[in-house]
Amino acid sequence: MSAHPTLEPMLELARRALENAHAPYSRFRVGACVRAASGRLYAGCNVENSAYPVGQCAEATAIGAMVCAGDRRIVEVLVLTEGTALCSPCGRCRQQLAEFAAADALVHLFGPEGLRLTVTLGELLPLGFGPQTLGRPERMPGAPPPRD
Ligand code: THU
Repeated sequence: MSAHPTLEPMLELARRALENAHAPYSRFRVGACVRAASGRLYAGCNVENSAYPVGQCAEATAIGAMVCAGDRRIVEVLVLTEGTALCSPCGRCRQQLAEFAAADALVHLFGPEGLRLTVTLGELLPLGFGPQTLGRPERMPGAPPPRD
């Protein structure tokens, strides 16, 4: 399997991450890679748990690695799965991506045979709630000045 040249490094990192997935319960391994505005790439795999709801998606792992390294802006996302069906990020992942990516960020969905679909985050999460929704709230009278 090969990808468009600019996607190849992301795909390679997602492949390696998928190999490390901890998915003994679903047997559904996922690898993800996000490209930050800095150009740096961060990969993640799904990390399941015997207490099933505690499991973490691959996208969340990649986002955590990115934030930990100091980046805050995602410009491109790649998700790699092994199944035959198209796998796009779950609802929770879409929301987590929207915290750090704009609606026009590209999300590439790969299977073992290659690229299956490219969509924008806005297509995955239309009318999403994001940081911009909060705006800058008026200060309450008598409240202390904001610290940031
Ligand atoms: N999974 C992901 O890692 N990302 C997604 O976007 C969809 C689902 C994982 C969670 C779980 O470990 C396995 O796939 C089956 O749901």
